[in-house]
Amino acid sequence: KIKLGVLGSGSGSNMQAILDAIEAGTLNAEIVLVLSDNPDAYILERAEKAGIPARVIDCAGYKTRFPDASQAAVAAELKAAGVEMVCLAGFMRLVKQAMLDVFPNKILNIHPSLLPAYPGLMAWKQAVEDGAKESGCTVHYVDAGMDTGPIILQARVPVFSDDTAETLHARIQEQEHQLYPKAINLALGRPA
Ligand code: GAR
Repeated sequence: KIKLGVLGSGSGSNMQAILDAIEAGTLNAEIVLVLSDNPDAYILERAEKAGIPARVIDCAGYKTRFPDASQAAVAAELKAAGVEMVCLAGFMRLVKQAMLDVFPNKILNIHPSLLPAYPGLMAWKQAVEDGAKESGCTVHYVDAGMDTGPIILQARVPVFSDDTAETLHARIQEQEHQLYPKAINLALGRPA
């Protein structure tokens, strides 16, 4: 049973999908720690409801930066909790070398586009504004770039002419929830 740590900034629906897969027996894992940079994030409540230790990351007052000292502290905390693989699930700060050094090739991210298309923020909105006919989601290994690491798995969704950013994001999220547990299995060398 692999021990997972999850980092998120928002609703945590992807973490919930991981929990559901564990519950359903399709992912042999355990989430041992949830960390959020946003004290108001619903992911913290979800963790609490599931009886998983959850804490707020101290980012020294920075709104979007994730300072090196915070990264080192987070990495140490994950290690101390026995975390073997880190899953970014709607985590909105850039993970850098201080964490990568502690978890080499062991940090995964889910991104709401078919990378390398639309990296960065609100990828679903970028796709709609760009007039894309298709988008989707990607689970990839995190490297030092922004949404650039090796791709593990992708899922496609159509973009319809009457889609708004919200309707497209909802369609992408349905796929994300299927994709993330499968990608974790693949990253562990197990069948998806
Ligand atoms: C997800 O759609 C995820 O792909 C996206 O944030 C959402 C979080 O939802 N991540 C990014 O945009 C990362 N740059 P959730 O909190 O319900 O899992």
